[in-house]
Amino acid sequence: MSIERIFKPYIVQSGGYKGGKSLDALSQDQKIYKLSSNENVLGSAIAHDSLSDHRLNIYPNPTPDHLYQALERFYNFELKANQFVAGNGGSDILQMLVMAFLDPTTNCIISNPCFGPYKMFSQWMGAEVRDVPLKAPNFALDIKGILSAINEQTRLLFLTSPNNPTGTYISKEELDRLIPRVPDHVVIVYDEVYYQYADQEDYTIGLPYVQSGANLIAINSYSKAYGMAGLRIGYAYSSEVIASYLRRVLRPFLINTVSLSSAISALDNSTFIKSTKSVVANQRTYLQDQLDKMGIKHWKSQGNFVLIKTDYDEQTITEKMLDHQIMVRPAGNFGAPGCIRVTIGDQEATEATITALATILNKKL
Ligand SMILES: Cc1ncc(COP(=O)(O)O)c(C=O)c1O
Repeated sequence: MSIERIFKPYIVQSGGYKGGKSLDALSQDQKIYKLSSNENVLGSAIAHDSLSDHRLNIYPNPTPDHLYQALERFYNFELKANQFVAGNGGSDILQMLVMAFLDPTTNCIISNPCFGPYKMFSQWMGAEVRDVPLKAPNFALDIKGILSAINEQTRLLFLTSPNNPTGTYISKEELDRLIPRVPDHVVIVYDEVYYQYADQEDYTIGLPYVQSGANLIAINSYSKAYGMAGLRIGYAYSSEVIASYLRRVLRPFLINTVSLSSAISALDNSTFIKSTKSVVANQRTYLQDQLDKMGIKHWKSQGNFVLIKTDYDEQTITEKMLDHQIMVRPAGNFGAPGCIRVTIGDQEATEATITALATILNKKL
């Protein structure tokens, strides 16, 4: 008997997650600008203390209550501690959500180009994934299309703002048009892991919608602005009722001791977040201006990355960029074939990116 016959068919059919290249895969002698995973190139919001400062021989708290209390303070008590759920990164929470809501009788809605795991995790549950693509030319949300794709079996609607990989965002006005029309058997997963980088006036996080009673779960991460991708921690907030059920699928001792204390202390480091936001905003504007000047197609971004389209196919341009020590991400897996996604770094990384693109594409600077 072939082993495939006993695996769940959804797992056998899944291609698995194709992440960005790791630095380990490359020669150690060369300086590489790693601009492929939207990490914080400037460092981390926490001081790197010694592991021996932690009592690693004992389990952490079974539930991360101290983090929930710290988050309650961070949100100025506009949310209560019992509205939060923490996980090993935003991805872990997304997986908890599909586990809690999806099965082979249900469906969810995504809007490509978007974060690949929405589809992959949902398919692992055997659920149908309905794609209502973002609309050309500017990747606008197709509100009408989403509303007509929802049926009695729909359980999750994934919205991302700012969106990965496009960098576009959903305006408050669009959310106000969509959210009240989503039936109450559908939960909106509002992925705001890049919210710190959004600076448009009509951008909003999910908080006001949770407060007004919408079925909405906002996803947050420490991997991006906080610069803590290696610690694997993130959190969601929603209504108390939704959070209480989600906590039932939390594995005990899920958040490790080091991540837990780091996540709590990072919330106090508003100085780091402020300087990250300022560097990213400046470098993003500079990069986009230079791309405009060189006539290189891209989309205006509200994230710490920019989606770029060239005449090369995505693998070729990715390899050519690596020849210039710039590691970028081909965006085909995220539903944007032919494009690359470049993370915003510091001035030096931006200059290196611009020079590489100008050389490869034979553009005048
Ligand atoms: C839109 C979006 N959501 C969620 C995540 C998950 O981040 P993490 O699991 O590192 O918290 C990412 C990471 O790239 C992302 O781009």
